[in-house]
Amino acid sequence: MLKHLEQQLAEREAQSLRRHRRTAETACAPLQTVTAHDGPPRELLAFCSNDYLGLANHPLLIEALAEGARRYGAGSGASHLVSGHSRAHALLEDDLAEMLSPQGPELRALTFCTGYMANLALLTALGDAETTIYADLLNHASLIDGARLAKAAVYTYPHNDLAGLERRIAACSTPRKLIVTDGVFSMDGDLAHLPELLALAERHDAYLIVDDAHGFGVLGAQGRGVLSHVGLCSERLICMGTLGKAAGVAGAFVAAHRTVIDWLVQSARAYIYTTAQPPAVAHAVSASLRLIRSDEGAQRRRHLATLIAAFRRGVPEVLGDLMSARGWQLAESQTAIQPLIVGRSDDALALSAALELQGLWVPAIRPPTVPSGSARLRITFSAAHGLGDVERLLLALVQAGKGMT
Ligand SMILES: Cc1ncc(COP(=O)(O)O)c(C=O)c1O
Repeated sequence: MLKHLEQQLAEREAQSLRRHRRTAETACAPLQTVTAHDGPPRELLAFCSNDYLGLANHPLLIEALAEGARRYGAGSGASHLVSGHSRAHALLEDDLAEMLSPQGPELRALTFCTGYMANLALLTALGDAETTIYADLLNHASLIDGARLAKAAVYTYPHNDLAGLERRIAACSTPRKLIVTDGVFSMDGDLAHLPELLALAERHDAYLIVDDAHGFGVLGAQGRGVLSHVGLCSERLICMGTLGKAAGVAGAFVAAHRTVIDWLVQSARAYIYTTAQPPAVAHAVSASLRLIRSDEGAQRRRHLATLIAAFRRGVPEVLGDLMSARGWQLAESQTAIQPLIVGRSDDALALSAALELQGLWVPAIRPPTVPSGSARLRITFSAAHGLGDVERLLLALVQAGKGMT
């Protein structure tokens, strides 16, 4: 087996697809000291985290985590259904339910250790053999894996192809149907067509699962997420959100009708058979929700929007000629995820390396994370960036692009 694995690793290397980790020596922030696998530590200006509001290193959250540990200890000690479900988890679930159902039908929330686990839990618990799952082609890997593990039949529709989806769903022969989509697509930054998807779900008696990993905290009134952003609420909606991205801590939740939540507690294996997240983490997330909904949260969202607008204005102004010459494309995204699509994996790697030489950290994202031929720099912004950082990124892209052969 070792020989086989070595061969596979060598193949990945030859195709510019081998992945390497970097070690962050300092907290998640725009300026980070980072050690590459083959070099000394360096300070880099990072455009790659999902810490969209810049909360991961916020003093109030650091204090809340410490206070949570003093109150509840370091670990939960067991799974939720044994003895690991603490008051901190219960309060967080109440906070999430209250935040996500301001006027709509009353929702309940359930927390998970990670978004990956929440998606596995949700799709395996709801996707039984009498269900068909309809999934967008560009869904996140955790939704893909959840659908693979489920007993349901799975149909993958081309990205945002609602007409194709409707034709398939109209011919569906199983009693239950689930449409599953990222709310904000993680590698492209665009939004799913949620009002149309919900209308389609209503026409065909389906339920709609929205993965709001990249909308929760950033979009909608008081950061309530993509569903609030597009003004949707319905008993047919099941929302998954993560708490390690804009919320700056860790974990995830599912918010849905109380019957769905009750069923997950009974049957979702990725919820039942794992040690509950440390209660201190849940305590810190509750503090994060207060920040997200506060005036400071609103101010951070406004600043983030200013950075995104400055970047999108700057790209054609500063990089226009280079983009046409190189065949690069800026994705159609209004969110903090601003992918620069380069095409070939080796070109994306070379561009990322050229930026790093100038002190910037923007990793190349390559297949299989994105479709073949669409390797990219997944540029992300955080409210902790300044306008000067955006300018520095634009100028560094010009330098890097000119230097590429
Ligand atoms: C769309 C989407 N869903 C789910 C996840 C998984 O969330 P977590 O990192 O909390 O496991 C991610 C993480 O990158 C994501 O982008």
